[in-house]
Amino acid sequence: IKKIGVLTSGGDAPGMNAAIRSVVRACAFHDIKCYGIYRGYEGMIDGDFVEMDARSVKGIINKGGTVLKSARSNKFRTKEGRQIAYDKLREAGIDAFVVIGGDGSFTGAMIFNQEFNFPVMGIPGTIDNDIYGTTHTLGYDTALNTVVDVIDKIRDTASSHNRLFFIEVMGRDVGHIALNVGIGAGAEEILIPEEDLGLDRLVESLRRSKASGKSSSIVIVAEGDKIGKSVFELKDYVDENMAEYEVRVSVLGHMQRGGSPSCFDRVLASRMGVKAVESLITGKSNYMVGIKNDVMDLTPFDQAVKGKSKINMELLRVSDIMSI
Ligand code: F6P
Repeated sequence: IKKIGVLTSGGDAPGMNAAIRSVVRACAFHDIKCYGIYRGYEGMIDGDFVEMDARSVKGIINKGGTVLKSARSNKFRTKEGRQIAYDKLREAGIDAFVVIGGDGSFTGAMIFNQEFNFPVMGIPGTIDNDIYGTTHTLGYDTALNTVVDVIDKIRDTASSHNRLFFIEVMGRDVGHIALNVGIGAGAEEILIPEEDLGLDRLVESLRRSKASGKSSSIVIVAEGDKIGKSVFELKDYVDENMAEYEVRVSVLGHMQRGGSPSCFDRVLASRMGVKAVESLITGKSNYMVGIKNDVMDLTPFDQAVKGKSKINMELLRVSDIMSI
């Protein structure tokens, strides 16, 4: 392998820049040329490549977002799109790539590998932590800290006014963010995609909470929560059924994806980049780099894509006990 491409794809996440830096520097260390591919698979199709040397990634380890930009590419979902991408890579002499992204990005890489027998390696980057084969994805730890910090601030105003807040956090399919920030910020209830708490239990729990003398209440709602109601609908429901509460809503949105990566994410990104490049050098392909018990690990793409990342059920129980 003489030239490795690196791209970021799908939703951005803090730590992606640290991972780009790591891939570029690991290539430099092993005397391999490295090319940045702009705008994910879109840029691959457009041949939007730039050579990157060790110095070109200075000063980015602490930056949020991705200097290579990201995109969700529809063209790469088509065979024609992938053929053009392959031709562009060959033209540039790139003979392997590392994709930093989520399961959609890995599915694309896996299909590409099958069609063209092209060496690929994945690094999981998404704040949702919804990827099988790693206990942590890049950006997850940073997002937890960002969100906890914001909930603390909301708690200040909630308790000054004796209010109930429904706070929507990201997490389409998995409740990792909701569950962890809920415990970390002392939420009264946490609604996640994995469990249907049910409106009755929610109301009952809020009544109990009020009766026990709590001045404010925070309910964390994951984007994809099973109750199937938006935070605004939940507010309406409580407004109609619980006169004792004054309710407000806060949708945190994309601020959760921004900001400087935590030290944990920077270190993880650095380790993952090295592992991805060195795996390609030793002839491995079609794997995602992950971390398990503080050891770097490889999971075949098909397992990473098909497998489901599971929440820790113990956390649900801890949350119940803490919100007594
Ligand atoms: O996958 C990460 C994520 O932030 C999800 O939590 C969220 O549902 C989605 O991306 C939002 O995507 P977009 O930025 O395209 O609106």
